[in-house]
Amino acid sequence: MSVDILLGLQWGDEGKGKIIDFLAPQYDVIARFQGGPNAGHTLVINGEKTVLHTVPSGILQDRPINIIGNGVVIDPVTLQKEIENLLAKGIDVNKRLLISKKAHFILPTHKILDAASEAAKGKEKIGSTLRGISPTYMDKTGRNGLRVGDILSSDFKNIYQRVKEKHLHLLKLYDFEFSLEEQEKTWLSAIDFVRSLNLVDSEYYINHALSSGKKILAEGAQGTMLDIDFGTYPYVTSSNTISSGACNGLGIAPQKIKEVIGIAKAYCTRVGSGPFPTELLNDTGELIRKIGSEFGATTGRPRRCGWIDLPALKYACMLNGVTQIALTKADVLNEFDTVEACTEYNINGKISTELPYDMCADEIIPQYHKLCGWKTDLRLFSSYDDLPETFLGYLNFLEEHLQVPISMVSTGPERERLVVK
Ligand code: GDP
Ligand code: IMO
Ligand code: MG
Repeated sequence: MSVDILLGLQWGDEGKGKIIDFLAPQYDVIARFQGGPNAGHTLVINGEKTVLHTVPSGILQDRPINIIGNGVVIDPVTLQKEIENLLAKGIDVNKRLLISKKAHFILPTHKILDAASEAAKGKEKIGSTLRGISPTYMDKTGRNGLRVGDILSSDFKNIYQRVKEKHLHLLKLYDFEFSLEEQEKTWLSAIDFVRSLNLVDSEYYINHALSSGKKILAEGAQGTMLDIDFGTYPYVTSSNTISSGACNGLGIAPQKIKEVIGIAKAYCTRVGSGPFPTELLNDTGELIRKIGSEFGATTGRPRRCGWIDLPALKYACMLNGVTQIALTKADVLNEFDTVEACTEYNINGKISTELPYDMCADEIIPQYHKLCGWKTDLRLFSSYDDLPETFLGYLNFLEEHLQVPISMVSTGPERERLVVK
């Protein structure tokens, strides 16, 4: 049948995990297509929180098979911890999780290189999660990577040594102290654990599933504004987070894609460095952070908060071909008298609804439209038509600007707090 894609439209942490978990019973397969343990996707079921970094967000539902696609980079240590945590919760991970042999491994030395590179950047640091993402994707495109399928080869230890030696050589370029021994031991033991998992040719699995009428949901990580090509470069991650990434990251042809579900918060957040035109460095930003519990699911860092940015969202809808939007965390603004939305940028004195080439270089002054707050507890609503008039007005305003329907409104972290149109 077809593939739907679900991905973030802002700078990550839009609530992708929550929506995937909700939608998962409608699909046969949930397949993560890029990123790695820099992601943190939070699921809240019966008051219990689960944060997933590498395992797809369909794992807590009974129906779908979950696939870690070839476009993902895997830290075996994080993966082992994640799986053990799920097993402890009684989830039958072994039956329901497949891993692409073509996914690349994050080595301990990739993580050290990430840390060394960030330290060398000083004030210009990216604010990386330090999970080794960038050095691993560099090795992948540089044709030096270590792939999951390599652990099935009798030559594996030699391949590992070769890559490690190269990294140790590179590390000499930095003035950076590190110790490898313990990390390496844990990593090698985690590799043995991964060997016991279902390692597959996932591109075949997925295409056979499609041919036999199965429904697939491709799960994105990070968000469009962190995309390596179209995000706020260089303050981005190292993979294609946009919908085209699902084609490379899983091995699916573009004509198989049907719905592209974009996830956006009713406001905006960013964690790490880089431009963020609508950032609120005031009490309002602080209040959003507090009510929205805006602290990173992976690193615990406070997230930067600001108003929703419509030029950036429009750009994201264009790049991804978004067919519907799920708006999350609107409940965080329940008590606000007014809610603001940036509709245009003033870039060096010129008004524009388009993003400039270099968002870092230009002075961008966001132009805001003020809307009436809904002053109602949105968590109490389960039907779209019953939603308060003021809130529906806000949704209409967003839909008109973005020219994309809002098909779902999330009103709380829990699985059941979702109003579907
Ligand atoms: P992801 O990376 O896109 O999956 O998002 P994260 O899990 O990193 O961050 C989203 C955070 O918001 C998590 O703590 C979720 O539990 C929470 N969340 C998701 N949807 C909603 C919502 O509609 N309202 C509220 N208040 N919290 C939400
Ligand atoms: P999910 O999937 C938010 C950010 C980092 C940093 C930049 C580069 O949970 O939405 P990296 O570790 O990739 O080298 O970091 O990207 N970043 C995220 N921000 N959500 C994420 O994932 C992120 N993954 C990476 O903070 O600014
Ligand atoms: Mg997250």
